[in-house]
Amino acid sequence: MNSKHSKVSQFGLDPLKMPRHVAIIMDGNGRWARKKLMNRVKGHEQGVKTVRHITEACRQLEIPFLTLYAFSTENWQRPAHEVSALMNLLVRFLKSETADMVKNGVRLNAIGQLERLPDKVRQALDEAMGQTENNRLLTLTLALSYGARAEIVQMARVLADKACRGEIDPQQIDETLVGQHLYTGKLPDPDILIRTSGEMRISNFLLWQIAYTELFVTATLWPDFTRDELISILQRFQQRDRRFGKVEG
Ligand code: FPP
Repeated sequence: MNSKHSKVSQFGLDPLKMPRHVAIIMDGNGRWARKKLMNRVKGHEQGVKTVRHITEACRQLEIPFLTLYAFSTENWQRPAHEVSALMNLLVRFLKSETADMVKNGVRLNAIGQLERLPDKVRQALDEAMGQTENNRLLTLTLALSYGARAEIVQMARVLADKACRGEIDPQQIDETLVGQHLYTGKLPDPDILIRTSGEMRISNFLLWQIAYTELFVTATLWPDFTRDELISILQRFQQRDRRFGKVEG
């Protein structure tokens, strides 16, 4: 038994059935804060701590890809002070975590309309992505100013442009080429999508990529989400019969 086998087996997990890619809609920071009679921003601050714990858990569990929905295109419509607090938290997170990411083999990646982010966020992102680009244990992708429909629109524009220039024949456009032109072009599709705080919605997240993803919705609010709950979801995932539209066997 190699170390990989022993490591996940100790959590009651089958090493041969581990997901490669876990995606998470981190929801419920505001409600967590309200329940505690605190400002919403306190909920986001606590949410950042969960980001750190779950990233560390995925690395320990040798899950190579983790994608977190940190800020949607719709989130720009929140009150300016909340948007600004989220941007500040992001910069703080990037600055304080980069050294640990470098040390722990975590590669930072970002998807979304990154050009809409304030300069200070883009600079911190570029810095963190540059410093971690050679890491391979875990790719942590932050979806920032992300919307799946906008992602699909930009893909269509790029492919149409290539076709107009004669670089591709429209007949060449297939699922592989479409996938390669999404922001997630270099990532495998998620095996698992988790949404915290109980809402049964996809909220414009990875619409193309989750065609055959296993969905898990938990009532737990994101700041309360733990490594143990992640492990319990992984155990349930391993019991699911993934047929990808085919019959069993
Ligand atoms: C949803 O809670 C959460 C967000 C809109 C942002 C998620 C952001 C973080 C966890 C912190 C920043 C992230 C990183 C990676 C540093 P909500 O505000 O919609 O909660 P509610 O539905 O209860 O109001």
